[in-house]
Amino acid sequence: MEKKKWRTAVSWHFDKEAYVRGYKLKDMIDRLNFTQAIYLVLTGELPNERQQRMMDAILVTMIEHSIAPPSVIAARAVISGGNPLHVGVGAGVLAFGKVHGGALEDAMRFLQENVDNPPDQVVKTYLQQGKRIPGYGHRYYKEEDPRTEKLLSIAKEQGYFGKYCRFAVEIEKQIEKQKRKKLVLNVDGAVAAVASELGFDWKIGEGLWIIGRIPGLVAHTYEEYTMEKPFSKRLDEEKEVEYIGSPPRDLNK
Ligand SMILES: CC(C)(COP(=O)(O)OP(=O)(O)OC[C@H]1O[C@@H](n2cnc3c(N)ncnc32)[C@H](O)[C@@H]1OP(=O)(O)O)[C@@H](O)C(=O)NCCC(=O)NCCS
Repeated sequence: MEKKKWRTAVSWHFDKEAYVRGYKLKDMIDRLNFTQAIYLVLTGELPNERQQRMMDAILVTMIEHSIAPPSVIAARAVISGGNPLHVGVGAGVLAFGKVHGGALEDAMRFLQENVDNPPDQVVKTYLQQGKRIPGYGHRYYKEEDPRTEKLLSIAKEQGYFGKYCRFAVEIEKQIEKQKRKKLVLNVDGAVAAVASELGFDWKIGEGLWIIGRIPGLVAHTYEEYTMEKPFSKRLDEEKEVEYIGSPPRDLNK
């Protein structure tokens, strides 16, 4: 048989009817909630009750945090420039990077690649090489990230506090011991541990983050769009900007 140009296992039409992962979309609308449908479309299978509860907790954890993260600033600034909602949301997504959002994927990779190694040695190597351990440290939370605490307690309740969660917590202890500074297991690290327990490959980590955070970005862009004047997200140059360039000079000299 001739090899076709594209392949997919995600969805298909049979007899003019849409099927997602083998289930009729029509039946999904009737029977599934959003978390179940997300789990199905990502993994190919329906979640059981515990998987659904855990997935729900992961998605809610990531939904929103504050107006301060780079993604929200980018999204609102772009709306402020006179762009439509989807451009603002797109700008927010583009602001995700190694330390904001992208840290989830790095943290999942870190846990999945190192979980069978001794935590003290792993931390020693990272610190010796001056590398940051993804999933640890936070701008505001210095003693504990409350989202982490909640998510891990749900993981315990649901029987998902397994080897990845234990390893993640042990790494936090080792960082404090070896660096003599507490760097909290942050929300990305906690979600990374639980998503790894659920069997998600680290390569889908950024996707999980995007799915979780998009509702927050839509709310911010809509708010900016409807509540603020265009061109309102400007700096007060006198108060907020330090000029470090050349003093005025004359091109004619
Ligand atoms: C989130 C982050 C940017 C906060 O940075 P910060 O506010 O500058 O961090 P702090 O002021 O608390 O700590 C600074 C010190 O800890 C170190 N440090 C911070 N996070 C570290 C990490 N994850 N691994 C190793 N060392 C780390 C810094 O190198 C610095 O060390 P020094 O004092 O010896 O120079 C930072 O912790 C980080 O890059 N973490 C990894 C990425 C991540 O998980 N991001 C998701 C955040 S929700």
